[in-house]
Amino acid sequence: MAKGSLSSGAIDPTALEAESLQAIGAATSTEALDEVEATLLGKRSALATAHRRLGQLDPETRRSAGRELNDLRARLEAVIAERRAGLRADERSAVLEADRLDLSEVVLEGLRTPLRRGHRHLVTSTRDALEDVFVAMGFTVAEGPEAETDWYNFEALNIPPAHPARGMYDSFYLDVGEPETVVLRTHTSPVQIRLMEAAVAAGSIPIHSVMPGRCYRRDTADASHLPVFHQVEGVVVDRGLTFADLAGTIETFTAAYFGPEVHSRLRPAYFPFTEPSAEYDITCTICLGAGCRTCSGTGWLELGGCGMVDPAVFDAAGIDPLEWSGFAFGFGIDRCAQMRHEVADLRNLLESDVRFLRQF
Ligand code: DAH
Repeated sequence: MAKGSLSSGAIDPTALEAESLQAIGAATSTEALDEVEATLLGKRSALATAHRRLGQLDPETRRSAGRELNDLRARLEAVIAERRAGLRADERSAVLEADRLDLSEVVLEGLRTPLRRGHRHLVTSTRDALEDVFVAMGFTVAEGPEAETDWYNFEALNIPPAHPARGMYDSFYLDVGEPETVVLRTHTSPVQIRLMEAAVAAGSIPIHSVMPGRCYRRDTADASHLPVFHQVEGVVVDRGLTFADLAGTIETFTAAYFGPEVHSRLRPAYFPFTEPSAEYDITCTICLGAGCRTCSGTGWLELGGCGMVDPAVFDAAGIDPLEWSGFAFGFGIDRCAQMRHEVADLRNLLESDVRFLRQF
């Protein structure tokens, strides 16, 4: 049968095939190809219509015309499938290309900018410098836990439950065990007790130790208070110590750390764990004693507390207060950093802003 057997009907298969191939070739995306496919092979396509009209032909012609239509459909389907595979591959590589990270720019930028070396945080370097001074004075360095029991943080330090001195320490209690039994230590003084107990157990008194570390109080942060801060505690236990030993130690430390023009003074004060007790001031590092806004015109800045170890504390730690004497001190590391480096606002120490930290 001549190919033109259908041409007397609705379509010219040769022309339809040529047109179809052109439309398939012109589709530049899988989406466009889907549309072309629907138009060429769908229910309302010329091909489908011709198929439906086969019934109008005589049986002989119908058979050959039917075969011709089926062959044409099969050829078009094959060409469409091939085109779809090609378009899909193109589209996938376009997506991959778009998502690819061009690291060459990053590397080049890195080579253009000289590497900036990091350094320790101001609080860490201050702590290290303080330790160095005390080690040079013959102290050892020790540490204790930040989560403490009520016993170490308060009771053993001669602060029984409900004692008014607890008001000096706004505490964060941890929600474990009995209420108010475990506390984020409000000062480093509990480490004194731990050291004394260990020295009793090891038979290694005398003690000359400093104990730096992090402390917590329910303070709202402002320019001179932080809810998380750092202290360094010191304790000396030996025979025949006097208040003069304490004052001399404090003055030696002060001049060594802050410089020879900065001195210490001790003002009578109250702490439950020392008797007598004192507050420890240093020469104002801003005006060197002349009086300025920072020191409220006094020429002095308060750094911490100190005193002679109270016999009740020795009792709690199992040390005989008749045989041994001791002195202790505790002060803020953040405050030392603030005074030595003229940091206006202590909150800068917590904020990790490199523009601030880079300066030290
Ligand atoms: N623990 C006290 C506080 O944080 C400071 C202090 C005072 C420590 C007197 C001492 C001391 O060792 O003897 O307020």
